[in-house]
Amino acid sequence: MATDNIEEIKARVDVADLIQEYIQLKPAGTNSFKANCPFHNEKTPSFVVSKDKQIWHCFGCGEGGDIFSFVQKMEGIEFPEALRILAKKAGITLQYQDPEMSNRKTKLFDICKAAADFYHQILLDHPKAESVREYIKKRQLSEETVETWQIGFAPEAWDVLNKFLTQKGFSEEDIFQAGLTIKKDRGVGYNDRFRNRLMFPIWDTHGNVIGFGGRWLGKEENVAKYINTPQTIIYDKSRVLYGIDKAKMEIKKEKKVVVVEGYMDCIASHQAGVINVVASSGTALTPEQVKLIKRFTTDVIFAFDQDIAGNTAAKRGIEVAWQEEMSTKVIVLPGDAKDPDELIKEDPSLWKKAIGEAQSVMDYYFATTLDNADLENVDEKKRAAKTLLPVIAKLADSIEQTHYIQKLSAAIKVEESALRDKLGSLSTATTPAKKQEETTAKPQSDRYLTIAEVLIGLVMKNPEHLNYVIDQLLPQHISFEKLQQLYKKIIIYYTENQVFNYNDFVKTLTESENSLAMYMDVLSLKAEHEFDSGDGDQLERAVITSVRELKRHYIQQELKSIEQKLREAEEGNDEHQIEEFSRRFSELTAELKRVE
Ligand code: GTP
Ligand code: MN
Repeated sequence: MATDNIEEIKARVDVADLIQEYIQLKPAGTNSFKANCPFHNEKTPSFVVSKDKQIWHCFGCGEGGDIFSFVQKMEGIEFPEALRILAKKAGITLQYQDPEMSNRKTKLFDICKAAADFYHQILLDHPKAESVREYIKKRQLSEETVETWQIGFAPEAWDVLNKFLTQKGFSEEDIFQAGLTIKKDRGVGYNDRFRNRLMFPIWDTHGNVIGFGGRWLGKEENVAKYINTPQTIIYDKSRVLYGIDKAKMEIKKEKKVVVVEGYMDCIASHQAGVINVVASSGTALTPEQVKLIKRFTTDVIFAFDQDIAGNTAAKRGIEVAWQEEMSTKVIVLPGDAKDPDELIKEDPSLWKKAIGEAQSVMDYYFATTLDNADLENVDEKKRAAKTLLPVIAKLADSIEQTHYIQKLSAAIKVEESALRDKLGSLSTATTPAKKQEETTAKPQSDRYLTIAEVLIGLVMKNPEHLNYVIDQLLPQHISFEKLQQLYKKIIIYYTENQVFNYNDFVKTLTESENSLAMYMDVLSLKAEHEFDSGDGDQLERAVITSVRELKRHYIQQELKSIEQKLREAEEGNDEHQIEEFSRRFSELTAELKRVE
C-alpha cells in the first residue's frame, strides 16, 4: 500500500474539520481548538486540536495522534478500515479497492441524500404538508429534532421524487437501485415507493443516508404501518441500527447502549437528552447488529415495547447478544406507557429513572416467572423449572450458570443436583446453537432449507426464472443466514444487470466471500441431484411450488408469533396492541390465502 496515499489523504482531510464531525470544537487561539475529551470523562476541556500541526492531543488522558488514530479510536476500528473511511472523505480511490464498487455506492449515497433533502423540504414548507406539520407538533417533536433527524414527508403522488431526482441528473435506474422507486406493473417506468408517509432517513455509522423508513399517515387500514427501503448495495436491514451515527460517541462515553424498538422512541429519547440510544426497528437484534454495537460497548440495555416473556423476537435478540458475550439488561417501563416515546412524553425523568433501574435479564426472567407462582405447588415448581432451565442453559459463562442454578434451587426448594441433571440434558440439545444451523437443524427446518437450496440452485442454472422468484420471494422468506446472504447478492446483481451469468456473478464476490462461491457450487450440485429432468414445464412448476412453500412457511411462522403476541396483549387488556396485532394478523391471513 502506497504511503503517498496516506500523505495525500492527510493533505486533503483537515484534522479540525474531521474531529468537528464527531464533537463540538471551540476556538482556542489562532488555528487551534479545544473540547471536552471524547475518550475520557471530564468537565473542563483538555482536548486540543492543532490545525498547524494537524494533530490532536488530550492533556488529561495523554491520548493523541493524527486523523487516522482519531478515527480508529473513535470508531473502535483497525487502521485499514480507518484508511478506507478517510480515503472516501478525501475523494481518493485506493488501489486495492474495487473502484467500480465504491463509485456505485457513492452514487446511491448521493441519491439517498438528495431524496432526504427533498422529503425534508416538503415537510418544512409545502402547503400540502400542513397536516403533517400538525402531526409533528402533536407528537411533540421540536424544530431542532426535525432538523437533526431530517424528518420528511413523502406526499401522496406517483412520481414526484423520481421526477425531482431525474431532473437533478440521476438516472432512473440508479434511483431504482437505491430502493426509492418500484417498477410499474405494466409497461415501462417507475413509481415512487414511498407515498403519503412520514419519512425517517436512515444513516450508516459514518452519516451516509442509506435508506428510509416511512410511517403511513393515511386513514386506511390494511396498509403496512411502516415500510422500509428494500435490500440494496448500501442498505442491509440486518446491519442497520437506527441512530447509531448520532449515538455512537455517547455510547462509548457512557459505556452502554439502550436499544429501543421504534424510530420514534429513539428520536424522543435523543430529544430528551438521553443520547446513547439506538432503534432496532422492531425486529430481533441480528448478530451483525450486535457486532456493530460491540465496536462501542459490551453493555446492552433493551427497552422492549412489551413483556419479553411472550416476545420471541426479544428473546432471540437477547440470545444473540449472549452468544457475543455481551452483558444484557432490560428496562421495565413503569405505568401504562406502551413504549419509551409515551413514557418520555409523560415525563422525561421517568425514562432516565427506568434506564438507571434496568435489571439483568436473568433477574428479570426470574422475577416474572416466580413472582406470582405458588412455589409450594409441585406443578408450579415444575413449570418454573421448565421456563428457567432452558434460559440458564444458554448462558455462556459457567460461573453465571451455577449462580442461577443455586438461585432456582433455593426458590423452588429442589436439590441443585436434580436441576443440574435436567440442565445437562438441555445443554447437549441446545447449546451448540451456532453449529446447529449448519449441521443438526431440526427435521422441519431441514425440509425448508432443502427447498430453498434447491430453488436457488435451480434458478442460478436457469436464470429465466429469476425474475419471477425475485418478484415473489423476499430475502426474509429464507430463514437460513448464509443462503439469505447469497440470495441478497443475487438480487442486487440481477437487478443491476437484468441477466444472470453464473461465472460473472462469482467474479463479483470478494475474497472474503469465497465460501459463498463454494456454497453456490454445492447448491448447483444439489439442484442437479434433486431435479435432473430437462422438462421446462416441470421446472417452472417446481419453481412456483417452492416459492409458494417458502412463503407459506414464513407467513405461518409469523402468524404463530403474532398469535402469541395477541394473546399476551389480550391478557394485558392492551387495546392499542390488540388492535395492531389483530390488523397484522388479518393482513397475514389474507396473504396466506393468496399463496394457498
Ligand atoms: P408510532 O406508532 O408512530 O409511535 O411508531 P413506533 O415506532 O412506536 O411503532 P411501533 O411501536 O408500532 O413499531 C416499532 C418499530 O417496528 C417501528 O419503528 C418500525 O421500525 C417497525 N415496524 C412497525 N410496524 C411495521 C410494519 O408494518 N412493517 C415493518 N417493516 N416494520 C414495522
Ligand atoms: Mn410509538
